[in-house]
Amino acid sequence: MNYSMQFGPLWPSIRVSLLSERKYGALINNFSQVDRVVRDLEGLCATDFIYAAQNGWLDSPAEQAGGEGPAPLSPNIKCYTFSKGDISRFSPARPDTVGTLGYYLMDAASLLPVLALNVQPGHLVLDLCAAPGGKTLALLQTGCCRHLTANDISASRIKRLHQILHSYLPRTVRNNVLVSVWDGRDWEQVEKDTFDRVLVDVPCTTDRHSVMEDDNNLFTRVRTKERKQLPVLQMQLLVAGILAVKPGGEVVYSTCSLSQLQNEYVVESAINVAETQFGIGVHVEDLSCFRRLFQDTFSFYAECRVGELVLPHLTANFGPMYFCKLCRVQ
Ligand SMILES: C[S@@+](CC[C@H](N)C(=O)[O-])C[C@H]1O[C@@H](n2cnc3c(N)ncnc32)[C@H](O)[C@@H]1O
Repeated sequence: MNYSMQFGPLWPSIRVSLLSERKYGALINNFSQVDRVVRDLEGLCATDFIYAAQNGWLDSPAEQAGGEGPAPLSPNIKCYTFSKGDISRFSPARPDTVGTLGYYLMDAASLLPVLALNVQPGHLVLDLCAAPGGKTLALLQTGCCRHLTANDISASRIKRLHQILHSYLPRTVRNNVLVSVWDGRDWEQVEKDTFDRVLVDVPCTTDRHSVMEDDNNLFTRVRTKERKQLPVLQMQLLVAGILAVKPGGEVVYSTCSLSQLQNEYVVESAINVAETQFGIGVHVEDLSCFRRLFQDTFSFYAECRVGELVLPHLTANFGPMYFCKLCRVQ
């Protein structure tokens, strides 16, 4: 009922997509035998949607006429998807001769917050709610993190993150990663004004999971209180991310929910709290270029007040994924 009011005539299409099989992307592991992995995926007629979008952008008449420059994206991330309308599936990755997995299957829309973070060589990066680790793995594929801190409050979920790091990364890369188990809301007690980039991928109603799975469902009666308190927790985590970033640094907030209450409202109230309680100025970066850049792969919602939202669609059944980028004023 809530979403039918929020999305009006778009809701029936979003609803049926949430109830249908989702699509995956194959994030290439740059620390594996990439040529072989890419050859295999191209043999399935999958394409790297990030490379295709960037090349299409450079070839576009607007760009050639001296229009906007390319969107600032975290580099070196490659993700293969099947084209819009193609519902083929990827098989799970197999270990290569040294036991490393060639790709990681994930919702391709989950890469958009990582791309938006625009990690550059030498950056200190914090992933505040990191487990099970899909986005951490993507951040490390950039090859840019001088050091990455991957934090999560859940020790059991952190175990899964350790497994992913071991299955995909050489020791030299893992040595630059600090894994911590801490309540992200209290990060200020660990360090503040430190990081160049902070990813705040918060716990949310995980809408796709919630409509399909009874197990651990946040909409069960016993979890009502926890669910109602989610926006406050999300706001506190985002404020912690803003405090952790250096002046001039950038924070990306993301959820896999369609809810305005967990998306735009959280961003707006965190900006307000950062300013009024901590005297920290923050501005919202315009990410509408993502909508144009990746329109061939995802279905975007055009009406967000701040940030961008990928809507599930039967021809491109990724998401939901909301992401918004904040820059801490110098
Ligand atoms: C959406 S998931 C993160 C997914 C992860 N970024 C990925 O890409 O695999 C949200 C995570 O937030 C964690 N979390 C919940 N409350 C937290 C808190 N107060 N501090 C830090 N992490 C928290 C949960 O344990 C969960 O692993």
